Amino acid sequence: MSLTTRAFGSSGIDTTAIGFGAWAIGGTWGEVTEVDAKATLNATLDAGVTFLDTADVYGDGRSERLIRDVLAIRSGPRPFVATKAGRRLDPHEAQGYTKDNLTAFVDRSRDNLGMDTLDLLQLHCPPTAVYYEPAVFRALDALVDEGKIARYGVSVEKVEEGLKAIDFPNVASVQIIYNMFRQRPAKLFLNEARRRGVAVIVRVPLASGMLTGKMTRETEFAQDDHRSFNRDGTAFDKGETFAGVPYDVALDAVDEIRALVPGDATMAQMALRWILMNEAVSVVIPGARRPDQAQANADADALAPLSPETMDKVRGIYEARIAPHVHHLW
Ligand SMILES: NC(=O)c1ccc[n+]([C@@H]2O[C@H](COP(=O)([O-])OP(=O)(O)OC[C@H]3O[C@@H](n4cnc5c(N)ncnc54)[C@H](OP(=O)(O)O)[C@@H]3O)[C@@H](O)[C@H]2O)c1
Repeated sequence: MSLTTRAFGSSGIDTTAIGFGAWAIGGTWGEVTEVDAKATLNATLDAGVTFLDTADVYGDGRSERLIRDVLAIRSGPRPFVATKAGRRLDPHEAQGYTKDNLTAFVDRSRDNLGMDTLDLLQLHCPPTAVYYEPAVFRALDALVDEGKIARYGVSVEKVEEGLKAIDFPNVASVQIIYNMFRQRPAKLFLNEARRRGVAVIVRVPLASGMLTGKMTRETEFAQDDHRSFNRDGTAFDKGETFAGVPYDVALDAVDEIRALVPGDATMAQMALRWILMNEAVSVVIPGARRPDQAQANADADALAPLSPETMDKVRGIYEARIAPHVHHLW
């Protein structure tokens, strides 16, 4: 059976509602061997997923090249591949988002992915000042005109950045964190994006694996896994690690969620279904490090809608335990 599809904003393209995030197979999540990475990608595509998200900095291009290599030996229609640029800037400053720099990043991603035209280029959580610089968006328009990218979008940290970004008429998509631990986007942003025909890509749906219910106070992470070194935002925005929720606070909330998981599902699958309850979401992109995880995440597509009672209880857990730690930050 094929997976459910949704419109990717007003692009005229439909993709599966469950996509795949290719950060963990690139790097920063402990070692993932090339064999495991390729098997995970193949399991994703075998399950019928048609949307992949990557970035030029995931493993310094490794994630993009893995996608190229796997797609090169598969037959059938190729999936929609979204990538990102901007984080190669050092220092990472708004002034660096020039036409020349963006062109160099795009050319490198075209090479890494083996694609003449990128399906979607996203600015990779740029500094807030970028959203106040029309010249950056004119540079992206020029890259579309040159045929190097088919369309562009932004990946944002904050709701307010998303709202500002969709004022630029050619922004096709916004990627944002939205999950049981990050509910603020539903208050205003998601409806506004939908109203304007902007696609919404939801990242970090499992709160970096926390919302699978498998973590404990004893869980250890490899030294080169951001879940061990970025809990306080040492390397990048702390909201990207466990959705910014302090580890012990998250564990207590997960224990309460356990009682709400439908009998035929895992907590991870419930977490994905919770996100898809919102019709403004175009695609959710869980990461995975192993084929069985990728398959299980695609299987969440078959889950029945969550009941209004469950949705209410999840909101209550968020408001009581999680919101005080995250709601005002993003
Ligand atoms: N700034 C940005 O634009 C940005 C930032 C972050 C992420 N993203 C994108 O969003 C994607 C998703 O976010 P994410 O990867 O950070 O976090 P996530 O999807 O919330 O969590 C992924 C991790 O959860 C664990 N997991 C996944 N499926 C599982 C399952 N079925 N059962 C048990 N464990 C499972 C895996 O790690 P373990 O097995 O090791 O626990 C996996 O690496 C990324 O891959 C990337 O494409 C973009």
